[in-house]
Amino acid sequence: MKFKTIIEPFRIKSVEPITMSTQAQRENFLKKAHYNPFLLKAEEVIIDLLTDSGTGAMSSNQWAAMMQGDESYAGARSWGKFESTIIDLTGMPYILPTHQGRAAERILYSHIGGKGKTFISNTHFDTTRANIEYSGAKAIDIPVIEASESISDYPFKGNMDTKKLEEIIAASKKENIAAVILTVTNNSGGGQAVSMQNAKKVSSICKKHKILFVLDCCRIAENSYFINKNEKEYSTKSYKEIAQEMFSLADAAIMSAKKDALVNMGGFLTLRKKSLADECTQLLIITEGFTTYGGLSGRDMEAIAVGLKEVFEPDYLNYRITSTKYLGEKIMEKGISIKYPVGGHAVYIDAQKLYPHIPVHQYPGQALVCELYRIGGIRSVEIGSVMFGKYDKKGKLIPSSQELVRLAIPRRVYTQSHIDYVIEVFDEIVKNKENVKGIKIVKEPQFLRHFTSHFLPV
Ligand code: F0G
Repeated sequence: MKFKTIIEPFRIKSVEPITMSTQAQRENFLKKAHYNPFLLKAEEVIIDLLTDSGTGAMSSNQWAAMMQGDESYAGARSWGKFESTIIDLTGMPYILPTHQGRAAERILYSHIGGKGKTFISNTHFDTTRANIEYSGAKAIDIPVIEASESISDYPFKGNMDTKKLEEIIAASKKENIAAVILTVTNNSGGGQAVSMQNAKKVSSICKKHKILFVLDCCRIAENSYFINKNEKEYSTKSYKEIAQEMFSLADAAIMSAKKDALVNMGGFLTLRKKSLADECTQLLIITEGFTTYGGLSGRDMEAIAVGLKEVFEPDYLNYRITSTKYLGEKIMEKGISIKYPVGGHAVYIDAQKLYPHIPVHQYPGQALVCELYRIGGIRSVEIGSVMFGKYDKKGKLIPSSQELVRLAIPRRVYTQSHIDYVIEVFDEIVKNKENVKGIKIVKEPQFLRHFTSHFLPV
């Protein structure tokens, strides 16, 4: 007998209370936070869907492993477990532990980047782009054309446009291309999956031209699930085998362990080539720590070693992807436009379609972020012109190509009724949509303005 209700494949052993609030209280909190939910206190939030990064719940096995943490400066037992788990998964011999993903990015990309260099990706995540541009190099995004369609049946909208990749390589000096980065799943592109076929094609192009091929693998278990379900020849392979095959195509990998390693902090860089590993190790020691702990304590490495195994368990991945899809499809049933098919870790809502009366320079995405908080105490993040907008020389906004709001789902944290509550809040969002006003920026920093800007309703 197969039941249609998919339950959370865990029981709750330790709980963290949620502080409830009234709409009047939240209106006050929002005003004090300058209409920027990044500036709210966590206790002012009822359901926190700001990010899936470092916000997951660890298992009892991970907590137990933490007690075994060996905090020796060099050659700790915990390092041995961490290293062998990652070598087994990635097949790469050189492992550099870092405190989170962007530290691994900084080490590799500052070393191979610099002025005159170009990086090419399906879509660079914002810290990836920032690290590349900070080194003086250029970052080019070439997602497939299907990525720009909000709704379609195409299951691999995270893919890279390999035709464009060949064209860019043909038009460039090969030695100026620092690396090709495939981000799986494609976070900034809507959490959409990348097919094995696409990864194979990217790999063969990189091999042919002797260009470094890097996997940004922080959600590779979720990506493997989509490959298993949507690429026929992988339907009988395990999720881990699929991930292992994808790693086998790459020369290097960067992981923010805060996602699919099911921990709250951590990351690593893996490399296949000794000379590059030796060079990066110098930077690791200078800025993160000694080679056998980098930016991590022994207990962190223990938890990552366990998390990297748990994340590939079929019941976990089935629950994870199915519950994200459930939220997305229920929101869509209310006539709200989302990126469809739903990605692995988040639901992306098209705020411009929801609020056609709010012009881009009044940030419809930020207006929805504020509404979700005001009505339901839900914290989300704008992925639109607040995050990616730039100004031209006359100070006019060059908007982002899309005005999205991301509802990112922390791993193993919220239950079905939390998610049903979020869905119910959207009934009110729809009822009130004509009354929602735009937002203006009253104070902004030069870089990554979404984090700290101050806003006011128009
Ligand atoms: N690469 C991708 C694809 C990411 O999504 C992130 C982080 C990073 C690299 C950087 O890793 O945070 O450990 O330094 N994404 C988070 C998010 C912050 O909310 O999507 P980090």
